[in-house]
Amino acid sequence: MQVNIDRVSKDFEIIVSYTKTPEKGCTRFSYSAEDKKAREYLLRQMEQLGLSIKVDAIGNIRAKYGDMEKPSIMIGSHIDTVKNGGKYDGLTGVLAGLEVIRVLKEENVQLSHPVELIIFAEEEGSNFGITLLGSKVLTGKYELEDLKLIKNGDGKALYDVAKGFGLEIENIKRDVLKKNEVDTMIELHIEQGAVLESKNKSIGIVQAIAGMKTFKVSLNGISNHAGTTPMYLRSDPMVGASHIISHIQKAANEMALPTTVATVGKIDCRPNMGNVIPGNVEFLVDIRDVEPQGINFIANELRNKVEEISSKYSLSSEIKLIGESEVVKLSPKIIDTIEQAAIEHGYSYMRMNSGAVHDAVMLTELADVGMIFIPSAGGKSHCPEEYTSMEEIKLGCDLLLNVVLSLVCKEDKLNIV
Ligand code: HGY
Ligand code: MN
Ligand code: MN
Repeated sequence: MQVNIDRVSKDFEIIVSYTKTPEKGCTRFSYSAEDKKAREYLLRQMEQLGLSIKVDAIGNIRAKYGDMEKPSIMIGSHIDTVKNGGKYDGLTGVLAGLEVIRVLKEENVQLSHPVELIIFAEEEGSNFGITLLGSKVLTGKYELEDLKLIKNGDGKALYDVAKGFGLEIENIKRDVLKKNEVDTMIELHIEQGAVLESKNKSIGIVQAIAGMKTFKVSLNGISNHAGTTPMYLRSDPMVGASHIISHIQKAANEMALPTTVATVGKIDCRPNMGNVIPGNVEFLVDIRDVEPQGINFIANELRNKVEEISSKYSLSSEIKLIGESEVVKLSPKIIDTIEQAAIEHGYSYMRMNSGAVHDAVMLTELADVGMIFIPSAGGKSHCPEEYTSMEEIKLGCDLLLNVVLSLVCKEDKLNIV
């Protein structure tokens, strides 16, 4: 029993065309027109399969195949992207899950558990700055009032954007995942790093997923004329930001753990004019590690540096933790199940950690969770150069199929090819 990679390839082609930046990679933010088209296509595929479909209050799509009463085997990922992102991040896991259900139905496999395809909303946080937002709401991390305070770059509240997208946002409490709804969750995802390629392995079996904290730092100085204001009379938040950002890079590079990473990838300057000393500079600091103490070390360095630089340059400052997720260890039982299937089918594999965060993190308190990685060419991701071949995707899909079969088969043994 194998997946039909031509079907998966066709799905890719169609959904990848739903991007705001056709010449420069994939830009498909949650709740955007591109997201709507991708959802409509996938919902049609699910309807054709006769799945029982639910779009929840925040926009996660859940589609079940089999006995509705029992805890499901959940497979899936996300379809939203970063700006100018790649084709494969998230979408690979969704299309793999869809294809696995197609095969189970075609082969009329008798299931002991329903298989549930999930598409998480706003995983990247491209719209609202908070990663894993859909899976965090699904697992009850936010109250309805919080969603009125979370704003995107245009100052629009998540509550209003979701409502405008046609979602029943008032029902977030009703839609929180209950303890016994999901038995096992398995997310197939591209590695987004260069380890598998460098070790010449086809499969990564994820053991732990890095934790992260995202801080928003806002520095306020005195906006003034770039030509008439002497240097000694300035309170320039851009200068302050430059010292803080370079210190964070130094702290992560030279002072923290070898597994600690920190990034400033988004900065806003107001009024952002070449001949005006800025009044305000705001930037996001993304800190990650598979060791919590690495994250906390950098967070402290950030707080101390902001305080030191603010007084040195007469700036007022604010640091806000806008998003976080814990380091999680995945289920040893599911890691062994994936490894068993990889061995049985002769896949070259390795156990590894994930530096990227994934929605699977949010399910670890409610289910047994595992992740399967497939290689990323050159380790590139979150950019148009992101690439994984259809052969590698087929291998990941077939492994996911075999793992699901080993979890749901009523018969003891299937003649799995
Ligand atoms: O940022 C991440 O790790 C994920 O791609 N959202
Ligand atoms: Mn992803
Ligand atoms: Mn991503």
